[in-house]
This record gives sequence, structure tokens and C-alpha cells, in this order.
Amino acid sequence: MKINGTAYRTIWLSDDGWSVEIIDQTKLPHELVTARLATMEDAAVAIRTMQVRGAPLIGATAAYGVCLALREDATDEAMDAAIAHLAEQRPTAVNLRWALEEMRKAIRNLPREERVAAAYRQAARLCDEDVETCRMIGIQGLRLIEEIAAKKEPGEPVNVLTHCNAGWIACVDWGTATSPIYQAHDKGIAMHVWVDETRPRNQGASLTAYELGAHGVPHTIVVDNAGGHLMQHGKVDVVIVGTDRVAASGDVANKIGTYLKALAAKDNDIPFYVALPHSTIDWRIDDGFKIPIEERSSDEVLKISGRLPNGSVVTVEIAAPGSGAGNPAFDVTPARLVTGLITERGICPASAEGLINLYPDRV
Ligand code: MRU
Repeated sequence: MKINGTAYRTIWLSDDGWSVEIIDQTKLPHELVTARLATMEDAAVAIRTMQVRGAPLIGATAAYGVCLALREDATDEAMDAAIAHLAEQRPTAVNLRWALEEMRKAIRNLPREERVAAAYRQAARLCDEDVETCRMIGIQGLRLIEEIAAKKEPGEPVNVLTHCNAGWIACVDWGTATSPIYQAHDKGIAMHVWVDETRPRNQGASLTAYELGAHGVPHTIVVDNAGGHLMQHGKVDVVIVGTDRVAASGDVANKIGTYLKALAAKDNDIPFYVALPHSTIDWRIDDGFKIPIEERSSDEVLKISGRLPNGSVVTVEIAAPGSGAGNPAFDVTPARLVTGLITERGICPASAEGLINLYPDRV
């Protein structure tokens, strides 16, 4: 997608042909800066500190992390150690482990001297595949938006509510939840997006609003608690969110607060869709409550960062001194609250049957 007229991906190979460039998301929306990853540990740190985040993008970054590890040591032991280390950087998004296993499959049977080149080819393939998969999610989701638009007065916008950032910045390009929105906007359908700010890290306010704005999609940031009110007043036509892991049962783990949006949508008869690539399905887990939920630092709740009028970015405390804070980063929305799953292969019910009908091959 474009920022100031320039097309970007979130991750790409540097001109040197081996190190990796990323958009440093910890600096957005105040600054668009890139960071260079030159070692496997650079990739691990980028994932852990959320310079890169979003389920598909942490998988892509980990894939390049394996390439960087193999450049230094292409033995089985080094490869296994790198994969294990990268996998433990974030626990909830299954794309991380999926991408690492795809890397292992592509490399493990090759002689040592062929491994580095094969790893780079595989990492590039995973990135290209993510772009195409997300583009297809958009095409599948577009028809839902077209159906809603057809019932509106000409020019009246379709109001989508989304949570966190499941945009192109969370993937390699296009995004999952945002892909249908971009496709509809690019087709000339009037769109308006309610962007939950997504406390505590505010990925909605700082990333989703940033990327929608950069692409020219009308949007409004709202506090997380506003969603139910907007739904009660007919201001939301459809909710579309992303996900970090979908159990084989159709239960959905996504950014904390997603469950409450699903409850409010159900109570107000508003369709609640989850957009995902196949790499987000965890076929080994048959119950969403078995998905590990990341517990993050209490500092993210107790402090907030922002830009001062002089341009400097500062972090300030917002709570009474001495108070502790809990910070579960994800929650689980039971399948019964999900209207449908928008995948690159089509839209299916959030159920074991719905998923297996679309993915009989369990990719
Ligand atoms: O903690 P984050 O910022 O990595 O969480 C990201 C989300 O919750 C996204 O909505 C999810 O990964 C879907 S990504 C297309």
C-alpha cells in the first residue's frame, strides 16, 4: 500500500541482498523510519519489542531471522536453535510458528552449502504468498461490503468497525481486516471506518488510523468503549477484525477487547466477521480457550507515549503511583459470536465444519 504516494511493504531485503529492512512500528505514527536487521537476534528483538507486530508480519520477520542465522551457521543444531529462539518471542499468533516450520521444511533435507540460498528463497516466497493471500481475503470480503452498499443511498458510506491493527502494517501488504476495505474504497464504494484506539498500546490510533489516512480512507478514531454505543445507534454496519490464532473449532483469539465487540455486535444484530489467512488456523487446537494468551508488561497500562507540540515523543505515567496493572494482550471470541470467517478461499461459518470444508487439505 502507499504512504505519501510511495508503495511500501512492511519488510524487504536491503540493497546488499542479505540484510532485512522493516518499518519500525514503534515510531509510528510520528515518524516513518526503517530499521535494518543484520542478525537473527535483531529479528528476535524486532518481534519481541514490537518493531514488527501483527500475526502475519511476525511470521515473515521470523522467516528472515532464520536466513540471518543460517548465514552464520548452517548446521542442523544452529537452525533448530534459531527456530526455537524465534518461536518463543511472542506466544499467541500461530503464524510465527507456522512460518518457522515452513522454513524448516524447506531447508532440513538440503546440504549445508545450499541452505542459505534456499532459506532466502523460502522467506521471499512466504512474503509474496502473504501478499497474494491478503489480496484474496480482500476480494472475498469485498462482496460483503458490496451487499451492504447496495442497500444504502448512493454515496452513503458503509460503516465498518475494526479493532487493533489488522491492516497492511500487520502483514506484508494489504492487511486482513482492512483488505476488503481497501478493495471497496479503491472500487469507489464510499467507506468509513470506526477505528478502536486499542488500549493499551493503541495500535488502532497509531497504526490503523495512520495507514487508512495514508491511503485516503475516511475514518474516525474512537475509544475502545465506544463500540457498543455506536452499534446501538445504528452507526456500524459490520465489524471486521483480524486474528492471531483461530482454533480448529472456529474460536478466535485476537487483540484484547475483541470479545466485547463481538458481544455488542450480537446484541445489536450486527454482523461480526473475522478475516484471516490459512496460516492463522491452528489445526492442533480444538478449543479457543487452549490458545496461549500473552501477558505483557504492566508499563503498557500504567504509562502512555505521545508527541509534544515541540515534536519530541515522551512517555508519561497515567495511574496513581503504586497501583499495579494486569495486561492480557489477547482474548478469545467463541465461534458462536462470529458471523463468518473471511479467508483467501472464501467465507465460511466459524465452526469445525466450516473450516474443514474450505481447507480439506488443512494447509
Ligand atoms: O499485539 P499485536 O499488535 O501484534 O496484535 C495484533 C492484532 O491483534 C491483530 O489484530 C492481529 O494480529 C491480526 S493481524 C492481521
